Amino acid sequence: MNIVVLAAGQGKRMRSELPKVLHPLAGRALLDHVLACARSLAPQRLVVVIGHGADRVRATVSGGDISWVVQDPQLGTGHAVAQALPELDDSVPTLVLYGDVPLTRVATLARLLEAAGPADVGLLTVELADPSGYGRIVREEGAITRIVEHRDADERLRAITEVNTGILVAPTPALRRWLAALSNENAQGEYYLTDIVAAAVADGVKIASAQPEDAWETLGVNSKAQLAELERIHQGNVAAALMDAGVTLADPARIDVRGRLHCGRDVTIDVNCVFEGEVRLGNGASVGANCVLRDAIVGAGTEVKPFTHVDGAKIGANARIGPYARLRPGTELADETHVGNFVEMKKTRMGAGSKANHLAYVGDAVIGERVNIGAGTITCNYDGVNKHQTVIEDDAFIGSDSQLVAPVRVGKGATLGAGTTLTSDAPADKLTLSRAPQVTIERWKRPQKGGKKH
Ligand code: UD1
Ligand code: CA
Repeated sequence: MNIVVLAAGQGKRMRSELPKVLHPLAGRALLDHVLACARSLAPQRLVVVIGHGADRVRATVSGGDISWVVQDPQLGTGHAVAQALPELDDSVPTLVLYGDVPLTRVATLARLLEAAGPADVGLLTVELADPSGYGRIVREEGAITRIVEHRDADERLRAITEVNTGILVAPTPALRRWLAALSNENAQGEYYLTDIVAAAVADGVKIASAQPEDAWETLGVNSKAQLAELERIHQGNVAAALMDAGVTLADPARIDVRGRLHCGRDVTIDVNCVFEGEVRLGNGASVGANCVLRDAIVGAGTEVKPFTHVDGAKIGANARIGPYARLRPGTELADETHVGNFVEMKKTRMGAGSKANHLAYVGDAVIGERVNIGAGTITCNYDGVNKHQTVIEDDAFIGSDSQLVAPVRVGKGATLGAGTTLTSDAPADKLTLSRAPQVTIERWKRPQKGGKKH
C-alpha cells in the first residue's frame, strides 16, 4: 500500500516553538513512532505531508524512504491528502495516518487493511463514552453511509458514540476522483477527507470498518496534558511487557524506558529508574532506586545500587556499582569490579576484581586486575589542552588522596603511599610516595585570645 502521514498542523495548543509532531514521547518524536509503525507494514510509498515547521521536521526526522510533501496553506485533511496524490502508486490502496497519533498497533492497521481489501474503503472507528469533537460514524441498517464532523452535526447525530479516528484506507484511483470533487462548504470552511465516505457510497463502493483493541491506540496529541497522558499509557505498556517477560518491577508505574531495554532472566528493577537508548541487563542483574542508565550493558549478577548514573558504559558480571556512582562513555568494567559512592569514571578500562570504592575521578585510564584505588584518588588526565593516559598494572595499590599526573604508569604490584602526587612512573612491587617529611615543632605555641600583642 501507499501510506500518507498527515503532519502539517501547527499544534497551537502545545504552546511551543517545536512543531507538534517533533515533541518526544518515550524520547522519540511523535512522528517517529508513526513512521516506525508505517514501516512495519512495508509500504510501496511513504509520504509525509508537512507544513508548520516543515524544514525543521524534515531535518529532524530521518528516512531516505520518505517523500516529503509541503501543504501550504492548510485547508483541511482532504486538501492535505490531495497534496500527496502525485507521489502515490495507483496499483495499491492508500492508508492515511496522523503524525500526532503515536500509539497505533501494527496489528490494528493490518486488520483494517484486511477488512477493506483492495477495492473497499476502510475506516478505523472507535466507541467513545464522550465523543464530542470527533467526526461521527453514520450507519444505516449497519452499513456506514457517511461521516459528519462534530461542528456540522445536529443533536441527533451528536448522540452517536462511534467516532472516526481519522485513520482510513481507500483504493487510490478512486481516492483521486473523490478528493478532486471535495467542497469546503461546511462549518469550518475546510476540505474534509471524511467527505470521501459519502462519495464512495454514491459510487457503490462498500465502507468497511475495523476497531482497535484499545481506545488509546487512536488517541492524538493536541496539548501537553495529552502528551503526558499518552506517555504514561506507553510506559505502562512497556512495563507490562517487561513483567510478562519475567522482569521484577518494584512499581510498574515508576519506570521510564526511552529506547530499548533488554533483560535476561530474574532481573529486578527498583523504583524511579530511567533507561535511555539501548540498555542490556544480564541474568540476575539488579538496578536500585533512582538510577539512570543510558546505552549501557550490565553483566549477569551485577548489582547497580541507588542513584547511579551510567552512560555509554559496559559492566561485567557480578560487579557492584554505586550507590552514587557515575560511569561515563567509554568505561568498561570487567567482572567482579566494585565502583562505590561518588566515583566518576570516564573512558576507563578496569580489570577483574579491581575496586574504586569511594570518592575518586578516574579518566582515560587502563587499570589491571585486583587493583585497589583508594579514596580521593584523582587521575590528572587533562593539562588544559590534551588528555593523557594513566596505566595502573595488576595488583597495584593506590593510597588514598593520590594524584596521578598523566601520562604516568604504576607498575605491577606497586604501592603508592597515601597523598602521593605521582609525576613519573612508579616501579613494580615497590612503595613509592611523594610526601614532605612529617615534623613536629616542639616549642610552638598557639596564639592566645586577649594575649599581649608584639
Ligand atoms: C479529524 C477528522 C475527524 C476525526 C478526528 C480524529 C476530518 C475532517 N475530521 O478532525 O472526523 O474524528 O480527526 O482526531 O478529517 N492536518 C494537516 N493539514 C490540514 C489539516 C489537518 O496535515 O490542513 C493534519 C493535522 O496535523 C492532524 C490531522 O491532520 O495531524 C488531523 O487534523 P485535525 O485538525 O486535528 O482534525 P480534526 O478536526 O480533529
Ligand atoms: Ca485532532
